[in-house]
Amino acid sequence: MNYRVPRTRKEIFETLIKGLQRLEYRGYDSAGVAIDGNNNEVKERHIQLVKKRGNVKALDEELYKQDSMDLQVEFETHFGIAHTRWATHGVPNAVNSHPQRSDKGNEFVVIHNGIITNYKDLRKFLESKGYEFESETDTETIAKLIKYVFDNRETEDITFSTLVERVIQQLEGAFALVFKSIHYPGEAVATRRGSPLLIGVRSKYKLSTEQIPVLYRTRNIENVKNICKTRMKRLDSSTCLHAVGDKAVEFFFASDASAIIEHTNRVIFLEDDDIAAVADGKLSIHRVKRLASDDPSRAIQTLQMELQQIMKGNFSAFMQKEIFEQPESVFNTMRGRVNFETNTVLLGGLKDHLKEIRRCRRLIVIGCGTSYHAAVATRQVLEELTELPVMVELASDFLDRNTPVFRDDVCFFISQSGETADTLLALRYCKDRRALTVGVTNTVGSSISRETDCGVHINAGPEIGVASTKAYTSQFISLVMFGLMMSEDRISLQNRRREIIHGLKSLPELIKEVLSLDEKIHDLAVELYTQRSLLVMGRGYNYATCLEGALEEIEPPKNSPCSRLHGRSDQPKIQTQKIKEITYMHSEGILAGELKHGPLALIDKQMPVIMVIMKDPCFAKCQNALQQVTARQGRPIILCSKDDTESSKFAYKTIELPHTVDCLQGILSVIPLQLLSFHLAVLRGYDVDFPRNLAKSVTVE
Ligand code: G6P
Repeated sequence: MNYRVPRTRKEIFETLIKGLQRLEYRGYDSAGVAIDGNNNEVKERHIQLVKKRGNVKALDEELYKQDSMDLQVEFETHFGIAHTRWATHGVPNAVNSHPQRSDKGNEFVVIHNGIITNYKDLRKFLESKGYEFESETDTETIAKLIKYVFDNRETEDITFSTLVERVIQQLEGAFALVFKSIHYPGEAVATRRGSPLLIGVRSKYKLSTEQIPVLYRTRNIENVKNICKTRMKRLDSSTCLHAVGDKAVEFFFASDASAIIEHTNRVIFLEDDDIAAVADGKLSIHRVKRLASDDPSRAIQTLQMELQQIMKGNFSAFMQKEIFEQPESVFNTMRGRVNFETNTVLLGGLKDHLKEIRRCRRLIVIGCGTSYHAAVATRQVLEELTELPVMVELASDFLDRNTPVFRDDVCFFISQSGETADTLLALRYCKDRRALTVGVTNTVGSSISRETDCGVHINAGPEIGVASTKAYTSQFISLVMFGLMMSEDRISLQNRRREIIHGLKSLPELIKEVLSLDEKIHDLAVELYTQRSLLVMGRGYNYATCLEGALEEIEPPKNSPCSRLHGRSDQPKIQTQKIKEITYMHSEGILAGELKHGPLALIDKQMPVIMVIMKDPCFAKCQNALQQVTARQGRPIILCSKDDTESSKFAYKTIELPHTVDCLQGILSVIPLQLLSFHLAVLRGYDVDFPRNLAKSVTVE
């Protein structure tokens, strides 16, 4: 929203579209905007909605087809909203995309991230009152509900934020919402519960404050009559944020800082149930009632993120860029924390809780997708260094089982985004049971980093590619660093600690060496990309590599070289994690110890098998698995250590990796699989950064 900063409609479009493009990795099946339709006469504005199925580019093209809109008209005050969608309710099409509207006159429009779980009841109620619905979305209920509240208001001068406050009292589920209305021209209201929302502030003038006091309403929210009678006190300069001087100021609402970083790095993170309103160039934040734990103000924070970090540079995809950034990202994770001279590790965000953690009954490490794999990858070294029982849990399953959690447990929540709904719910579940909660996230200010008692920022830099790569290796290192910090005073572990710290030091160089295998891995992908399935096998420290490598595959679009080879476009799809995620091939990570208990039946000379065999305590057992595979005429592609002459004798192909400490080897062995997934996806003709049906950050359960 711009206030006293004249902007043409074209500039407004560009700001909105650019913001959406930066967020496109979170959802990309349809998109829409709402902007002021008429002219600069504030009172006569109406809202123009433009929505389109497809990606943001399609919406951008559509905007310029709107003959009725003069692109050069200037607005001194303007509030536009835009959204890119990843469908939860209703198929992806223009009607179901956001903004959703209250009525054909677009009196109220709203954009929403999250999911409203009681929308069916609300919709039934509103339909019984004569409100007609046009979409299949849960979000439309919110647009209709605010109009219902407005239509039934008891005083004429009810404020926009009061309406929103009354709406969210009826909502169950998760949401970040931004509202615009013709009844409140030049005003914006935003709120959140469970889904992230931040406000960027830009002004060349000094701001009135760096801490925005939160306003509380002291009244019984059950008492509807009181709600209607009690009005917000008129805001004055001491209770809100504005720019001092001629007051020119712009506010940017976004679910993620990457959408706004090119305009400002000064942001305010909203808390659950905050209602933020901008009117007359002033931002105020209020809440219904004050809880004992509430912070009474919201600070403006300065983010370190640079625009360049969220640009692709010379790479063809974010995923590729992020794979190649790993020598730097792992270094940044360790920077200022690992002292290679004294062999000590200090994680500032944990140091005050270390005593408590050392006394705990067990560690529970919880995450989803790739973040869960980082927990699997480090479980053994954590058990060794902390000498505590370590459980690793998928957040959704952990909740489904109502897993017993006790106050002397320490629960870790691993999440790149810090916003994954399942992980966040598991965190709240553990907090309710009074366990100590530790966040391991890549996103400063995210819900998980704010709601945990303490934590570690992995400092990998923004990760945009939906398939997580550099965040995985940085999560891995963060958990290893935690283990090292825990074992600092264990005499019996000193040699082992030194060995691991030494291994950490050389990691960036060794990662560079692995990345230099890119061409060889590309050639392998050329050989494999027409295959329908791929197995990835390993055990011990490298089992997680197999799970993670298997996560990312891709299906050929109709005219890709691959689909032509297959001859049919309706072929069953092949799938593993990295491989599944972006290549849509069927791929499975298999624990080599389980081979003889089932997967061996799949092996023949056609089935491509990748085996991860490293010189570690499981080497001999992996050799057994290798024999079992070759005995069934399997033709294994082996990821092995450079000096391993034994495994290579039986290999169809080998990819030779530099050797490091056993518990860190998984960092090196996952990289060839990241590269392989990337090349397979490109060869199969997919958009690597936007795999179908997946979103980077899943803020719904
Ligand atoms: C989604 C993504 C996965 C990711 C998982 C956990 O499912 O598609 O790539 O690993 O969420 O995300 P988080 O941000 O919690 O690490």
